Amino acid sequence: MIRLLYFSISGNTRAFAKHMETYGKEQHAQNVDMPLVEIKEITDDSMFEAEEKDFFACVPTYLDGGNGLDSGTNEIMTNTLGEYIEFGDNAQRCLGIIGSGNKNFNWQYCLTGKQYAEKFNVSFVADYELRGTPSDVERIYNLLAEVVTK
Ligand SMILES: Cc1cc2nc3c(=O)[nH]c(=O)nc-3n(C[C@H](O)[C@H](O)[C@H](O)COP(=O)(O)O)c2cc1C
Repeated sequence: MIRLLYFSISGNTRAFAKHMETYGKEQHAQNVDMPLVEIKEITDDSMFEAEEKDFFACVPTYLDGGNGLDSGTNEIMTNTLGEYIEFGDNAQRCLGIIGSGNKNFNWQYCLTGKQYAEKFNVSFVADYELRGTPSDVERIYNLLAEVVTK
C-alpha cells in the first residue's frame, strides 16, 4: 500500500492524488504485487491525528510574492500540512515528499516540497507540474512502489 497525504488549494494536487489512486487500482488489478494507493486530504479543518502507517506527502508550492525572481521564499497557504507532519511522531512515518508547482516560478519551482524534505530530513522523491501528466503519474507511482515494496 502506498499512502499519500496531500494538501490542495486550487485542486491540482487533489486531481493528481486521485489519478494516483486510480492508477494504483489498475496496476493492482493486473498484478496483485503492485500496491494500491490510499489518499488522504489534509485541510485547514483537519483534526490532527497520529499516523499509524507510513506515508508520502504531496505538497504544492505557494510562496509570498512569488514572481520567482526577487520575492521571498516564505510558505503561505500550505502550512497546515507541515504542521500535520510535525504533529506527534508523524514525521518519523514520512517516507518522502512529492513536490509540485509551476516552472514559471523559476528557481522557486517546487520549493516548498524541497523545504519540507530538508526540514523533516526525508527524501524529495519527485516533482511534477500542476496536475501532472499521465506519464508523471506512472513515473511517480513506480518510484513510490519501489520504496514500499522493497
Ligand atoms: C499565489 C501563488 C503562488 C505560487 N508560488 C509558486 C512558487 O513559488 N513555486 C512554484 O513552483 N509554484 C508556485 N505556484 C503554483 C502552484 O504551486 C501550482 O499551481 C500548484 O499546482 C497548485 O496546487 P493546488 O491546485 O493543489 O493548490 C503558485 C501559485 C499561486 C496561486
